[in-house]
Amino acid sequence: MLNKITVVGAGNVGATTAQRLAEKELARTVVLVDVVDGVPQGKALDQWESAPIEGFDTRVIGAANDYGPTAGSEVVVVTAGIARKPGMSRDDLVRTNADIVKQVSQQIKQHCPKAIVVVVSNPLDVMCWVTKQVTGFPRERVIGMAGVLDTARYRSFLAEALDVSVQDIQAMVLGGHGDTMVPLISYTTVSGIPVTQLLDKAKLDKIVDRTRNGGAEIVAFLKTGSAYYAPSSATVQMVESIALDKKRVLPCAAWLDGEFGLSGMYCGVPCKLGKNGLEQIIAVELTAEEKAALKKSAEGVKQTMAAVTL
Ligand code: NAI
Ligand code: 2OP
Repeated sequence: MLNKITVVGAGNVGATTAQRLAEKELARTVVLVDVVDGVPQGKALDQWESAPIEGFDTRVIGAANDYGPTAGSEVVVVTAGIARKPGMSRDDLVRTNADIVKQVSQQIKQHCPKAIVVVVSNPLDVMCWVTKQVTGFPRERVIGMAGVLDTARYRSFLAEALDVSVQDIQAMVLGGHGDTMVPLISYTTVSGIPVTQLLDKAKLDKIVDRTRNGGAEIVAFLKTGSAYYAPSSATVQMVESIALDKKRVLPCAAWLDGEFGLSGMYCGVPCKLGKNGLEQIIAVELTAEEKAALKKSAEGVKQTMAAVTL
C-alpha cells in the first residue's frame, strides 16, 4: 500500500477514480483536488463516509486550490480539464486543457517532486507531453491512460460478438488516443486462439471501427459529458500495477525515443508498469498494415502537439 495518491480534477473521471482507489486500499490517503471550492471537499467526505460500508480504511480528503495536502504523493493522477462535448473532437480541447495541465504540472513539480504521474486529460498524448515538459520528470514517471480503456472497449465488443467471457479476450490497442488508434488484430486471441479464426474480416472491421469511435458513442448518449466508469477503471488498473509493483504489461501512452520507429512524442505502446513507473516498453513486431496505421496515428499526435506553445 502506498502512503498517498493524489487525484487532480474532482469531476466525473477524477471522483470515480478516487472512490475506486480507496475501495482497493491502494494508499493510506487519497487526496482529491479541484479548482471549484467545495466540490473536492464534499465528494471526498461523501466517499470517506462510504468506508464503513465498503470496508476500506483509506482516508479520502478534498482540497480546493491548495496542493499542501498533496505533498509527497507517490502517484498523482491528472484528470483536470474540460470534457469533450457532442460534435467536439478530442483535439478541439487542446488549448484549453494544455493551459490547465500546465498549471497542474507546476504544482506537482513543487509539491510532489518524486511522484509517478498518470495523465488522463485529453487530448491524452499531447497532455502527457505537456506534463513531462513542465514537470521535467523522466519518461519513467509520466505515463498516459488511454490504451487500457480503448482495449477494454475492443475486448467488450469482441466478447459480445463471440458470445464468450470478456476475460478470455486478450488484445491490445496501440497508437494515439483518437480515431486513428490501432487495435492489433494480429495479437488478438480468445484464450490463445487467433481471433481471425473465429470472426470474419467484415465483422472484425466493424468492431475495430466501433472501438475507434468508442468515446464518441458514449458522448452521443450522455450529451453533456464523456465516459467515466470505464476510464476510471482503466486508470486504477495502471495505478494498481505501480502501487503493488505488479509489473502488468498494459497499453499505455509513453514517451518514445526510437521505439517503433517513433521519437519525440507520446503514443500508446505495450508498457510494463511497476514501482518505478514505466519499467519497459515492449517493442513487439507489427504487420506492415499495423506499422503504417501506427505511423499515421503518431503523425496525428505530432500535428496536435504543434498547436500547443509551452
Ligand atoms: P469533468 O468536467 O467531469 O471534470 C473535470 C474537472 O477538472 C472539473 O471538476 C473541473 O473543475 C476540474 N478542473 C478544471 N481546471 C482545473 C485545474 N486547473 N485544476 C484542478 N482541477 C481543474 O470531466 P471528466 O469527465 O472528469 O474528464 C476529465 C478529463 O479526462 C477530460 O479532459 C476528458 O476528455 C478526459 N478523459 C480522458 C480519457 C482517456 O482515455 N484518456 C477518458 C475519459 C476522459
Ligand atoms: C473517451 O475515450 C473521452 O477520451 C474519452 O471516452
